[in-house]
Amino acid sequence: MSMEASAEEHDSGETNPYLQVSGLEFSYGEVKVLHGLEFQLAPQSIGCVMGRNGVGKTTFLRNLVGLESSSAGKIYIEGKNATNLEAHERACNGIGYVPQGRQIFPLLTVEENLLVAMEAAEKSDGSIPASVYETFPVLDQMRKRRGGDLSGGQQQQLAIGRALVTRPKFLVLDEPTEGIQPNVITMIGEVIRRLVDEQGMTILLVEQYVDFVRKYSDSFAVMNRGRFVAQGSVGELDASTIHKHLSV
Ligand SMILES: Nc1ncnc2c1ncn2[C@@H]1O[C@H](COP(=O)(O)OP(=O)(O)OP(=O)(O)O)[C@@H](O)[C@H]1O
Ligand SMILES: [Mg+2]
Repeated sequence: MSMEASAEEHDSGETNPYLQVSGLEFSYGEVKVLHGLEFQLAPQSIGCVMGRNGVGKTTFLRNLVGLESSSAGKIYIEGKNATNLEAHERACNGIGYVPQGRQIFPLLTVEENLLVAMEAAEKSDGSIPASVYETFPVLDQMRKRRGGDLSGGQQQQLAIGRALVTRPKFLVLDEPTEGIQPNVITMIGEVIRRLVDEQGMTILLVEQYVDFVRKYSDSFAVMNRGRFVAQGSVGELDASTIHKHLSV
């Protein structure tokens, strides 16, 4: 092989990861929950973290968005060291977070829920981006309804909409399809795929449904007892991994 050919191959074959985690450790008090995690996510891709209940998936996401601080390890986002940034600094740098269980404000209207999120992120030019209502038309129809009066699927759309009002570059979602009807699950899958393919976002989610992962994700990582035990492109997610590490 000539020198030129190998240089060319190097240029086209390597992309720097959008998210790079190394040696990440975390404990709740004396109880260690994350044991030296290694994780990478390619830019403009969807990655899914899978694993049984209580293995540490939410704790991993909370460390990524800065709601918990790790005792060891490094988190690089877009090549920048984010390990010691506070949650609001990470939000200002373009991370949007949709927590498990939605956690919208039940007594505020849909519109107020969205406005509060914009104010919290200091994006208070007052108007909710039209793209959020275009993405989730039901939020437009229900602007004046209280969050607590929406169905589970509508609340999940509100929770995602609340993260989108800040126009994130990196969206982190914790089990967005948990307890949601199949038609809304499909819609959420199509929405996140479009955010990546058309707007260049990078998305990481915790997801239990293998079918959803296969259909919408680019890569997967399986966690067991605070360690990643399998990772790869979604085509590499095989039956034995599923049987060994996931509830079926
Ligand atoms: N605030 C907390 N204080 C102490 N222990 C906690 C706390 N939150 C979680 N844990 C424990 O840490 C471990 C990992 O919890 P985590 O919520 O990250 O798991 P998970 O994989 O997201 O689970 P699930 O599938 O049920 O959402 C569990 O043993 C849990 O009981
Ligand atoms: Mg969880």
